[in-house]
Amino acid sequence: MSITLLFLVLTIATSVASPLNQIHLLKPHPGSAGHKHSKLNCLSWRLAVETNNIQKWKQVPEACENYVGHYMLGKQYRKDVDLVAAEAYEYAKGLNITKDGKDVWVFDIDETTLSNLPYYARDTVAFGAIPYNATAFNAWIEEAAGPAIPGTLKLYKRLIKLGFKIVFLTGTEAAYAEARTKNMKAIGYTKWEKLIYKEEGDGSGVVYKQAKRKALEEAGYRIRGNMGDQWSDLLGTNAGDRVFKVPDPMYYIG
Ligand SMILES: *[C@@H]1O[C@H](CO)[C@@H](O)[C@H](O)[C@H]1NC(C)=O
Ligand SMILES: *[C@@H]1O[C@H](CO)[C@@H](O)[C@H](O)[C@H]1NC(C)=O
Ligand SMILES: [Mg+2]
Repeated sequence: MSITLLFLVLTIATSVASPLNQIHLLKPHPGSAGHKHSKLNCLSWRLAVETNNIQKWKQVPEACENYVGHYMLGKQYRKDVDLVAAEAYEYAKGLNITKDGKDVWVFDIDETTLSNLPYYARDTVAFGAIPYNATAFNAWIEEAAGPAIPGTLKLYKRLIKLGFKIVFLTGTEAAYAEARTKNMKAIGYTKWEKLIYKEEGDGSGVVYKQAKRKALEEAGYRIRGNMGDQWSDLLGTNAGDRVFKVPDPMYYIG
């Protein structure tokens, strides 16, 4: 090897090793050979869940328990809800409300108007990373201790001022109506046109909710807006003039 060539090789080797000349994108990633997707990106997972690209998921992936917990308890969740609520209000404000009392806004309850976070933050629930336990969750409903979701409560009050009638359409079973009604009133949801609970035989979330919305429209109500944390609150027939999805990365109801 000539002296000149050796010099050139050394120069290249040095410049590659120098931190200033690193080309990050070309660096091999450990474990990238066939294991590219082994590390779940929790922000991507949450986005896919919110957009209904991931469906029928049973629980929060174990790897994302901390991520979901931080998201739900931190500022981001509250800000995300606030923005949806603000957008809904801007839309509602522009509508022509008639005085016949038939312009309604449909709200879901759990994780839309009322939060179950004190339950979901328990070690035995782990923000949805531990499989759903109906016995434990129903006992929590009976406590009637769920706090309001601030952004949605504010929207609820503003919609009433605009002249909308409120319909709560919940997947909560009628057996828990007393506790739920008490809870809703205690946290500021003091009036409504209807509060509809799920009865035995009502079917899946989407089937039940579309049937109830259809019945509302058949009774002459105009569903001007519809807000929920599950896509099953918002999909199906008679969905309303416009739907609003608030975040919920803790559980999926089809
Ligand atoms: C508002 O709605 C009522 C009833 O649907 C209708 O008669 C009226 O023309 C509407 N007004 C405007 C400004 O769109
Ligand atoms: C579900 O919750 C109940 C009540 O807290 C508890 O007794 C039961 O062991 C739980 N079941 C499972 C599978 O964790
Ligand atoms: Mg809900």
